[in-house]
Amino acid sequence: MRLEGKVAVVTGSARGLGKAIVERLAKEGAKVVVTDVNEEGCISTANEIIANGGDALAVKCDVTSRESVEALASAIIAKYGKIDILVNNAGITKDSSLKKLTDAAWDAVINVNLKSVFLCTQIMSNYMVEQKWGRIISLSSLAGVAGNFGQTNYSASKAGIIGLTRTWAIELGKKNVTANAIAPGFMNTEMTKTIPEDIKKTLLAAIPVGRMGEPEEIAAAVVYLASDEAGFVNGVTLNINGGAYVN
Ligand SMILES: NC(=O)c1ccc[n+]([C@@H]2O[C@H](COP(=O)([O-])OP(=O)(O)OC[C@H]3O[C@@H](n4cnc5c(N)ncnc54)[C@H](O)[C@@H]3O)[C@@H](O)[C@H]2O)c1
Repeated sequence: MRLEGKVAVVTGSARGLGKAIVERLAKEGAKVVVTDVNEEGCISTANEIIANGGDALAVKCDVTSRESVEALASAIIAKYGKIDILVNNAGITKDSSLKKLTDAAWDAVINVNLKSVFLCTQIMSNYMVEQKWGRIISLSSLAGVAGNFGQTNYSASKAGIIGLTRTWAIELGKKNVTANAIAPGFMNTEMTKTIPEDIKKTLLAAIPVGRMGEPEEIAAAVVYLASDEAGFVNGVTLNINGGAYVN
């Protein structure tokens, strides 16, 4: 097991990529904190992990609220005494063409996808800096790397994650705390289930490996970036997209 004894928190882990990530981290020996606005989902994911022999804590948290994130950090410290790995995964979409994009849709996506990453990292990296070991892994997106029609707000939030990751690699690296991003392409989760079939066909046609990605393929990369073996990997954005965008 590669993460024995580590304490890992994954935001938005009631379902989707976050759920796959938290399950895999638990299998690698980490004590995991399942956190989401969806409290029922958190509890059921944590219970599944515990039923499979893992150690998990479920905490409801709205990552757009400083108070809520501070309460989350306090709950983790009370239960496990430290925070080693933070996976900034919570995210939403509110797609619209530039012409029709509302202020409300812009603010909602920037708050959940980008401000949350700042809040969670600012609060939780303190514990990592103090112990001189930490891993910050944030979910960007192919849309943040390459842009995407109808995703002004989403692509801005995901490109922002790449920028702050590079800054934190420089600021926190000297404390042995690394910051990296993962930019998934078209993944098989609830988030993409609502995409109309004709658009799905076009998206699939643009992926050289000819299929969507599976959540476990992102979880495997998170385990690597969270491990001791990845201690010299800092400030990168790992594209996992089946070759849909090559740069
Ligand atoms: N699915 C894809 O194809 C894809 C591709 C690239 C990037 N991503 C990114 O990966 C991450 C996970 O995506 P997913 O497909 O699993 O999405 P998902 O919608 O299945 O899960 C996202 C989770 O975040 C939670 N969440 C939303 N707002 C929150 C808040 N304010 N506080 C706490 N939790 C909140 C939701 O309740 C949900 O459980 C997101 O950041 C997404 O942008 C996904």
